[in-house]
Amino acid sequence: MAPLPRRLVTEQLDILDPADPLAVGSRRDLVLVNRLMFAVPIAARLLQRHVARPPRRILEVGAGDGRFALQLARRLAKRWPGVEIVLLDRQDLVTAETRRAFVALGWLARPLPADVFALPGALGREDAGFDCVCANLFLHHFEGETLRRLLGLLSSLAPVTVATEPHRDRASLFASHLLGALGANAVTRHDAPASVRAGFCGRELSAHWEAAGFTLHEGRHGAFTQGFAAVREGRR
Ligand SMILES: C[S@@+](CC[C@H](N)C(=O)[O-])C[C@H]1O[C@@H](n2cnc3c(N)ncnc32)[C@H](O)[C@@H]1O
Repeated sequence: MAPLPRRLVTEQLDILDPADPLAVGSRRDLVLVNRLMFAVPIAARLLQRHVARPPRRILEVGAGDGRFALQLARRLAKRWPGVEIVLLDRQDLVTAETRRAFVALGWLARPLPADVFALPGALGREDAGFDCVCANLFLHHFEGETLRRLLGLLSSLAPVTVATEPHRDRASLFASHLLGALGANAVTRHDAPASVRAGFCGRELSAHWEAAGFTLHEGRHGAFTQGFAAVREGRR
């Protein structure tokens, strides 16, 4: 069967007012989507595999309301205590309650409302130096030269970049259409198949990574997730 061609469609969550009840509901649905994709355990495994020493500072790009990062912290905080995690998103969505939940785990979450392409300028001087960058359900928003530029930017910020994105194939597309039966709202019912169509397969992310001196790892993890890691050689 021919591979599913990659196609980017604007996701409704990206254009709705963040306070719109449909957007609020869809962000809640993302917790379910991430659970079905095993995104947190897959990202945690990739981070532990590729970040050799316990990190002090992590940057998540496209972090949304921070709930994905909070679940990561719940998995990693015992092994990686005292991490500062900067949560960059162009929408300002991280609540005080979420920040307190990080503190309870011994992590410090610092929201950074900014467009990813404002990096590194959007970072303060004290923000220089991350041990790793992570992204979940974010890179599939970009293609071509823009994706290449974004990955180039990330390569300059940390020795390790880890991403978990939708795996693009017909089985994932079929499964994404079943989310309505699990109670997902209209925005999620639109955005989930759109995300799969914009997702990755094979070594498509690696093909957009141009920075030299990195070892790249990419492949399908579980049924629905494309995992990617770029590790600077000799600097794990
Ligand atoms: C599908 S959500 C994923 C949120 C989170 N990573 C998660 O797994 O729950 C994608 C996020 O990317 C953010 N985003 C899209 N384009 C962006 C950009 N150019 N700069 C910063 N954030 C962006 C959106 O605001 C949204 O919160």
